[in-house]
Amino acid sequence: MASAFDLSALTPRAAVAIDVARDVGRQAAAFRTDARPETLGVENKGLQDFVTVADKQAEEAVRAALLARFPLDAFMGEEGGGNADESERGTWVVDPIDGTTNFIRGFRHWGVSIAFVAGGEILIGVIYDAAQDKVFHAIRGEGAFKEGQRIAAAKTSDPNHAIAILGHSRRTDFEDYLAISRKLYERGIDYRRMGAAAIGLIRVAEGVSDLYYERHLSAWDMMAGVLIASEAGAVVAIPPLGLLLRQGGPVVACSPGLEDEFAFLMDMEGLLAAAE
Ligand code: IPD
Ligand code: CA
Ligand code: CA
Repeated sequence: MASAFDLSALTPRAAVAIDVARDVGRQAAAFRTDARPETLGVENKGLQDFVTVADKQAEEAVRAALLARFPLDAFMGEEGGGNADESERGTWVVDPIDGTTNFIRGFRHWGVSIAFVAGGEILIGVIYDAAQDKVFHAIRGEGAFKEGQRIAAAKTSDPNHAIAILGHSRRTDFEDYLAISRKLYERGIDYRRMGAAAIGLIRVAEGVSDLYYERHLSAWDMMAGVLIASEAGAVVAIPPLGLLLRQGGPVVACSPGLEDEFAFLMDMEGLLAAAE
């Protein structure tokens, strides 16, 4: 399904999302610096899955700002829920803080992730990167940018020079993560695990990393980062958008010169079938 949104509808949306991501991200960072442990309000959503007062406030602030300006758009957020509208109306898909555990503990890898989807396509991706205090964004077909400067995926072609970022959560089998780590190791590829999928994806987009892989993410974790990475020239594989919005799925984004090297990860149909 092709989208009814052209550049004249997307450009103002991206501009607002960039401002909102930066404001809300900076407010969350300030809250984190000033908060005592009890005011962070950490709650458990599951094993090693946390939410804080800052996550909830950030999502409310993003929702209010976007819908005040674009009241007919739909909204889906990690904390407050909501469904993607798969009709012609566009939907904002938001992770108010990606990397909540890092945020709580004081690691630098976390951010605010805002995507806009319509007509079965991701049309806008915006991510505030707390570690650099910078905003990354992309509009479909228009390239990827960091603070307005064009960015590009790395030109790495030798796996022995490649750096990957892996993600893993308790939603998926640890054996899968171990098997992928081993394969990378055997191919001479080094890897990191940083605990924020959206940030991992923009590291591929700006050429810092050559791969982001995670066996299962929700739509709000990956949508903005996937568009930014692919607009930066990375090769990306995700499930069909409708499925992704309903139940999440695997994500792969890699430097274009390493597509063959990472082909074993790109078998999206195989990954989806294995997850059933
Ligand atoms: C999580 C982070 C983490 C990834 C998990 C996500 P959250 O999101 O992106 O890196 O491994 O799968 O759920 O809970 O920090 O928003
Ligand atoms: Ca997340
Ligand atoms: Ca989150």
